[in-house]
Amino acid sequence: MRYQRPRGTNDILPDETPLWNRVEETFRSLCKRYGYHEIRTPIFEDTDLFTRSMGEHTDVVSKEMYTFTDRGGRSVTLKPEGTAPVVRAYVENNLAAQGGVSKLYYITPIFRYERPQAGRYRQAHQLGVEAIGSQHPALDAEVIALAMHFYREIGISRLSLVLNSVGCPVCRPVYRERLREFARPFVHELCEACQVRYEMNPLRMLDCKREKCRALLHDAPDIIDSLCEECRAHFDALRSYLDALDIRYVVDKHLVRGFDYYTKTAFEIVSDALGAQNALGGGGRYDGLVEEIGGPPTPGIGFALGIERAIIVLKELGLAEARRETVDVFVAALGEEAVQPALQLLQQLRQSGISAETDYQRRSLKGQMKLADRLGCRITLMLGEDELAQGVVTLRDMVTKEQRTVERETAVATVREMLSG
Ligand code: HAM
Repeated sequence: MRYQRPRGTNDILPDETPLWNRVEETFRSLCKRYGYHEIRTPIFEDTDLFTRSMGEHTDVVSKEMYTFTDRGGRSVTLKPEGTAPVVRAYVENNLAAQGGVSKLYYITPIFRYERPQAGRYRQAHQLGVEAIGSQHPALDAEVIALAMHFYREIGISRLSLVLNSVGCPVCRPVYRERLREFARPFVHELCEACQVRYEMNPLRMLDCKREKCRALLHDAPDIIDSLCEECRAHFDALRSYLDALDIRYVVDKHLVRGFDYYTKTAFEIVSDALGAQNALGGGGRYDGLVEEIGGPPTPGIGFALGIERAIIVLKELGLAEARRETVDVFVAALGEEAVQPALQLLQQLRQSGISAETDYQRRSLKGQMKLADRLGCRITLMLGEDELAQGVVTLRDMVTKEQRTVERETAVATVREMLSG
């Protein structure tokens, strides 16, 4: 094969796009029900936007960004996530001026130079929301409720919501020091990456997948015990709201999430139907991000859900019936003379809202009938020599196999009647 798709990317073929559309449409309609409006931002941004918001020492920024210099000498990066671009757009377009909470949603590809494996790609797709402008924990509850509702609606119910608080600039530095103190005696036994994290970003040590690091950090102090009063009250309120909404969760005191912008609430939705990459989605609060990006101090919270991972689970559950859309009517043209009137009939059918297809490969009548069956057509409209001579068409009901002949002028109206009957 001369050309292959780039490593870690996928072709989403016509047999699969109906499932993708079902997932995306479910998300869109739920977002609408919850009062979120769609936002679309560019595929690339100034590199600095991501470095600054996600944090220089995070895995994504330090190792995984698709960064290049454009012809004008600017460093740009294909978006590795959707939050920073949405917040940038919120600030740049002064969405705050519209008042209230800005409730935004997006469906976007993301790009991360990761080691590809099942559920982990270099181009992946996310469904996300960002709610900017309130620090009330009720908004956290709404955002989490929306994510859980989405999975229920597409049919994934065996999953867990994992919750934690990562504190704020008041209490996190205190915890960071406690964690460093705890790890100091065995820091040289940690993996190389964790030794760097120990210096630069100690909370990230808690997220290390290596067995040895996990064991060493197993009894690390809990961030929950270090929360300031405000963060603790926020966490408690959120938990009581989730309880009231009957949304089950488990608190994982080691859940820290991968980016530096998070404050207070952090959550992930995980499924055991996924392998090592078990996170279906994740999110949290980012009360300092708008200011970091140049806006006034404004709190926010959001999540992103991986579409590929949702689809893996749907397939695992046998809920991924991937059927192509069927076609209503097949127009069978027999002979060159019939081609032009056939094209006109196709146009009339399509313009009146009926899906219609024809043959472009000079198939025999039998071949065209087979094609019509394969496309799932309910009616075949035949135009042969006799029909042309008499100004009529023959309509065949593909289910009952009954045939009738009607004037060409009334063909579309008759088809419509047959389809609605
Ligand atoms: P994230 O946890 O990095 O968060 O990504 C969210 C989800 O996107 C993951 O749980 C996963 O399902 C999917 N995902 C991420 N990377 C890949 C990949 N390489 N291959 C396949 N799927 C992937 C964020 O991106 C934050 N922006 C979420 C957020 C929004 N926080 C606040 N607002």
